[in-house]
Amino acid sequence: MKWSLLSLLPLFVSFASAAPSAPEAPKWEFNLKKETSGIVALESIVVSPTLVVFFDRASNDPLQINNHSAWGALWNLETSTVTPLDVLTNSFCASGALLSNGTMASVGGDPRGFVGNPAIQPGNQAIRIFEPCASPTGAGCTLFEDPATLHLLAKRWYPSSIRIFDGSLLIVGGTHVNANFYNVDPENSFEFFPPKESTVRPSAFLERSLPANLFPRIFALPDGKVFMVANNQSIIYDIEANTETILPDIPNNVRVTNPIDGSAILLPLSPPDYTPEVLVCGGTQTDPIDPSLLSSQTPATSQCSRIMLTPEGIAKGWQVEHMLEGRTMPELVHIPNGQVLITNGGGSGFAAISQVPDPVGNSNADHPVLVPSIYTPDLPLGRRISNAGMPNSTIARLYHSSVTLTPQGNFLIAGNNPNGDVNLTVPFSSEFRVQTLDPPFVQLNRPTILSTPKNLKFNSRVTVPIDLPLELTGPGAKLQVALMDLGFSSHAFHSSARLVFMDATISANRKSLTFVTPPNGRVFPPGPATIFLTINDVTSPGAWVMMGSGNSPPTLE
Ligand SMILES: *[C@@H]1O[C@H](CO)[C@@H](O)[C@H](O)[C@H]1NC(C)=O
Ligand SMILES: *[C@@H]1O[C@H](CO)[C@@H](O)[C@H](O)[C@H]1NC(C)=O
Ligand SMILES: *[C@@H]1O[C@H](CO)[C@@H](O)[C@H](O)[C@H]1NC(C)=O
Ligand SMILES: *[C@@H]1O[C@H](CO)[C@@H](O)[C@H](O)[C@H]1NC(C)=O
Ligand SMILES: *[C@@H]1O[C@H](CO)[C@@H](O)[C@H](O)[C@H]1NC(C)=O
Repeated sequence: MKWSLLSLLPLFVSFASAAPSAPEAPKWEFNLKKETSGIVALESIVVSPTLVVFFDRASNDPLQINNHSAWGALWNLETSTVTPLDVLTNSFCASGALLSNGTMASVGGDPRGFVGNPAIQPGNQAIRIFEPCASPTGAGCTLFEDPATLHLLAKRWYPSSIRIFDGSLLIVGGTHVNANFYNVDPENSFEFFPPKESTVRPSAFLERSLPANLFPRIFALPDGKVFMVANNQSIIYDIEANTETILPDIPNNVRVTNPIDGSAILLPLSPPDYTPEVLVCGGTQTDPIDPSLLSSQTPATSQCSRIMLTPEGIAKGWQVEHMLEGRTMPELVHIPNGQVLITNGGGSGFAAISQVPDPVGNSNADHPVLVPSIYTPDLPLGRRISNAGMPNSTIARLYHSSVTLTPQGNFLIAGNNPNGDVNLTVPFSSEFRVQTLDPPFVQLNRPTILSTPKNLKFNSRVTVPIDLPLELTGPGAKLQVALMDLGFSSHAFHSSARLVFMDATISANRKSLTFVTPPNGRVFPPGPATIFLTINDVTSPGAWVMMGSGNSPPTLE
């Protein structure tokens, strides 16, 4: 395998240069949308086949609702237009996910209000509910909040949250009220939504990983346990036994959580074993010291670290490889063919706002990285990361940026605001421009999944009608069917994002696709999912389904 790849590569290159007049193959492209996001889209989550929810802090954003600045909005993926959402509590630096019944829950946030906007209530114990929205335009769909009766057990600003095996949310860490660079006011505990008990669960791991343990990077593993990385430390947490197993540190003094943000991803899971592997990229090789001794020019690390979460893999420890450049605050996002997009971030500095002595404008980070890379998990070590053919953006996406895979199969990129409130006059000013990053296949004839059942049962064989372009029907075509959670993007981390490949075949007449759903909610937590059919790296638009019963959490089906 290794040998044949090496020998093919130079052939490709010389063929391309020998035929300069041949029509150019479609390439990855950035495309700027006409309409802006209206609020700084520092958090984003796809909530329906056509709608993305954006959240900002309660601030002086230009988008207005009920005679005040909005800090929530719905982005329509079909029309590329924005509609404000009325939010009661301050959603600044919150997290969230979709639950097993399709409802989006946004949790935690900023305790403060904003001068000139009296509507705001503290967000650090908030639970914001967006029920499943059947309207393609979001008409009539609103957020529900009732802070007096519906709230978290603890105050959490900068928490992480993921959907777990029973379709509920596990909520991890955060700070109470003071967020001055490092976590100096920590809530070192876990809780659930809906709650499983009346008190929080203290976490020794979060104690040990102070002071850079905000927005821990956490993943639901296919056995129901949860992998967590914060600062330079990692564990597996057993929810059912309430025990932690300590794993090796991230090598070489690299730290990867806020305010020293790297990013992390659970690599695609494949049948029959669904062996979990985690990849952690970027961050900074530094010791946590007083921010007044750090610099916006401190180089970010290019290190990626990868571990297989089996007893042998854990004994072997983290395997180190390198991105093409250092990145702080990159984001890692699944591509439906099993590759990983590495985008956003800067070449130097830190997250947060104006704490280093030499901010650029108000940004603790500098040298935005404008060219995305692609990570191919099954290539040999040292050959997995490339930016060949990737476009160059002109828009910095540093602190408070977001990116999400859409049901259409492209990426929506927005945000950037390393400033207190909206500031249009500094370098790295508040960013309202929205881009898509479009894979080459959007310019080609794509396969189509014509319809699917609304709900899919676990461990079942499902046949759906498809339409295949003639050119993708040849013998030996590479077929991939991905069941995906598109995740929740906040602070350079895509929580709950998941790609589970399904065994699949195409009928002899090429008119139907049969796939086998995951065995249970541990492999794919019950809830909304998007199915993508990829043939020879050409991906269909996604089909939006409910994996499991659609029951409210907790549910085991
Ligand atoms: C809207 O807000 C402005 C300034 O805060 C105020 O002067 C005006 O009366 C408000 N209008 C309504 C309809 O509430
Ligand atoms: C992780 O951080 C701790 C605390 O700063 C440090 O003592 C330890 O050496 C680091 N581990 C690695 C592998 O660099
Ligand atoms: C990308 O664009 C920036 C700014 O226009 C430029 O400085 C940089 O050299 C470009 N990088 C590549 C790889 O083309
Ligand atoms: C924008 O940031 C600069 C640099 O900190 C500051 O001097 C200026 O007052 C800010 N502008 C606004 C509108 O806050
Ligand atoms: C889903 O479950 C959550 C948590 O119990 C609840 O708040 C929400 O109303 C439920 N949504 C639906 C559509 O049943």
